[in-house]
Amino acid sequence: MNLEELKLDELRADALDKLRRADSEKALSELKTLLFGKAGTLTALMRTLKDIPPEQKPQAGKLINDVRVELIELCNAQEKVLHKKAIDAALNAESADLTIDKPIRAVGAIHPLNQIRKRLTDYFVGNGYIVYDSPEVETDYYNFQALNIPPDHPARDMQDTFFINDGILLRTQTSGGQVRLMEQYKPPLKMICPGRVFRNDDDSTHSPVFHQMEGLVVDKNVTLCDLKGTLEGFAKFIFGDDTVIRFRPSYFPFTEPSVEVDVSCFNCHGSGCRVCKNTGWVEILGAGMVNRKVLENCGIDPDEYHGFAFGMGLDRITMIQCGINDIKQLWENDVRFLRMFR
Ligand code: PHE
Repeated sequence: MNLEELKLDELRADALDKLRRADSEKALSELKTLLFGKAGTLTALMRTLKDIPPEQKPQAGKLINDVRVELIELCNAQEKVLHKKAIDAALNAESADLTIDKPIRAVGAIHPLNQIRKRLTDYFVGNGYIVYDSPEVETDYYNFQALNIPPDHPARDMQDTFFINDGILLRTQTSGGQVRLMEQYKPPLKMICPGRVFRNDDDSTHSPVFHQMEGLVVDKNVTLCDLKGTLEGFAKFIFGDDTVIRFRPSYFPFTEPSVEVDVSCFNCHGSGCRVCKNTGWVEILGAGMVNRKVLENCGIDPDEYHGFAFGMGLDRITMIQCGINDIKQLWENDVRFLRMFR
């Protein structure tokens, strides 16, 4: 075999032609295998070198190599061009048309009950209270006995209890959190305890599951006056600056004296309306000075420390705030309803 028989020019022209027609990365990669692969044209060409007469070998070797290097460089350059083209095409295909007018996915809303709970929590935390979590499944001791409600005490009838078994129940009030906190920490104490409570009650304003927020302050020299000031500040924050509160005497076994707290109607400002049932006042919580017996039960000396406690119904506050008549609406989780309070 001699140099002419290698048909180098023909081979080069053919490769260039194929290269021109390789219009995708895949086609180019196939072409590279065809030229430089194990069975590739140029690989084969290199192998024929051994059949060339010795005097032509140096020249033939150089010519073959020149063509090989030229083709490799051209292929590499073309590869870059095709790669960029592929990226551009992908970007174009994936681009988002921001002008398209499509209905967006339904967006939910924070439940009004959670909005109220968060506002109340913010208020008390801002005033130095800690947020305390107390169990929903509770013992008779924490829910009743430690709160000065012994077995067979008539006050147990105020709250129709779900019992799990002997001595274990679903808490009927968050007041058990008072006892757990006082057992765990030494005064001075300032805490709120929001959470779910359970009573066997079911009508348009009562649900077997509802929410309370307990409050407790224990320190030296705490008075009923402090309780009133605290609740007044809270009422103004929630219902507006012109809100006033009033205390009515009441009874809870764990507070002495005990009060029922009303706020002036934020809806009619006292002139009488549906919200306040024409009384000008809306009842929002129960409260009082922590009973000495409760302090004693928790190992706190009632001669050294005094405390006040309050407990409010979050569902009730949410309902009067949002104008909701039926407590069931708080449970239906109809987004259209929830979105009204965004
Ligand atoms: N636990 C009482 C209730 O559920 C409310 C309350 C709490 C009253 C704290 C006084 C002090 O009715």
